[in-house]
Amino acid sequence: MYLPRKGRSSKCEAQMSLIRLTIENVRNLSSASLAIHPRLNIITGRNGSGKTSLLEAVYVLGRAKSFRDVNISNAIATGEKSARVTGVIETAWDSLARQTHVGIQWDRSGDRQVRMDGETVRRSSELSDALPLTYIGLQETRLLAEPPQQRRKFLDWALFHVEQRYREVWLRFERALKQRNAILKRRRQLVTPSEVEVWNKELVFGAEILNAARCNFLEPLEDRFRHHLQLLTEQDCGAYTLDYRPGWDEAMSNFQALTESRLRQDAERGFTQFGPHRADFVVCRGGRSLQQYGSAGEQKIAACALYLAQWDEFRRRTGRQGLILIDDMAAELDERRRKVFFRLLLSLSVQVFVTATEAELLESTLDDSNAAESARFHVEHGQVS
Ligand SMILES: Nc1ncnc2c1ncn2[C@@H]1O[C@H](COP(=O)(O)OP(=O)(O)OP(=O)(O)O)[C@@H](O)[C@H]1O
Ligand SMILES: [Mg+2]
Repeated sequence: MYLPRKGRSSKCEAQMSLIRLTIENVRNLSSASLAIHPRLNIITGRNGSGKTSLLEAVYVLGRAKSFRDVNISNAIATGEKSARVTGVIETAWDSLARQTHVGIQWDRSGDRQVRMDGETVRRSSELSDALPLTYIGLQETRLLAEPPQQRRKFLDWALFHVEQRYREVWLRFERALKQRNAILKRRRQLVTPSEVEVWNKELVFGAEILNAARCNFLEPLEDRFRHHLQLLTEQDCGAYTLDYRPGWDEAMSNFQALTESRLRQDAERGFTQFGPHRADFVVCRGGRSLQQYGSAGEQKIAACALYLAQWDEFRRRTGRQGLILIDDMAAELDERRRKVFFRLLLSLSVQVFVTATEAELLESTLDDSNAAESARFHVEHGQVS
């Protein structure tokens, strides 16, 4: 059986940064060309000027999709047929440096063309390997209050990057789940065990690996989470835990027995009720769920600590850096917490993009040394200067 590797050390750390960015026809940004700072990029502008659109353009470059809309074509500027974002990623190991030219173009039919160093790339996952990034906006700071799907995405994103085989197993599991559900929906009570046997096997195989990988990831994450939360809250956070829920009651039965014995109930409902596709994790303090008992502010700070922990683990296990896009953070945390959050974030050596409507709000957040090591952009009616 495949078991996820324990964390790799980051002895050979690669400095990775996006150094150039061009944007064409993304929402209200008709044309922009930016020299990006390897550490901190501050984007200011009034409401509706195009700040989130700029972050969205960077996000599309790294993920080949948008955080705003499942339909990426809605991000094309009104009246235009297509949009394009290109970038130059510089990766440096000690004295060696390499530049990768990446680009994505998409049109209203949903057709996407991804290019890397002049070659057409078929799998958009190659983009996310080249430019690992996370967007933290209003919805992300509510990670604890969101439905479980968002927390699964949080876990899966990190695991796609730190566990080589995770993505492959995850895609295989998704496919098997779709096939099994299609049979359940079509055949309902007429379904026989032999019709779903092959998919049951696939589900059991996937469940075991995904479950083990998630558990192995959450274990060190919990420690990193407590560490960052402690620094953010200036309180002892030893009572905090991350409690994993695999998506079925492990105490009651193993997943294989469950998949076989619940066939009737699954057929009645027309879908597979239990499995890693229903997994979740709960942030607890002294055994009580913060999702249920924490204040809105405590939940937000815990979410920030989770993102810090995630990047800390990502860096420790891959030896790589990535990019974090923070949208309007000023509106989400008080000044003291903002200060600590930025200090922690920049100490992880990630490249940061942050937006704010008022430049002053960010000035009060940054230490002098951080403020000096940054680039500033101002957006006005879709023009970036
Ligand atoms: N497909 C599109 N084509 C052209 N403009 C669009 C498109 N979609 C949205 N817009 C407009 O782009 C403008 C910039 O939006 P964006 O969300 O980037 O602003 P923002 O600077 O982040 O504002 P806020 O501070 O309120 O968050 C808005 O006026 C929005 O209505
Ligand atoms: Mg915005």
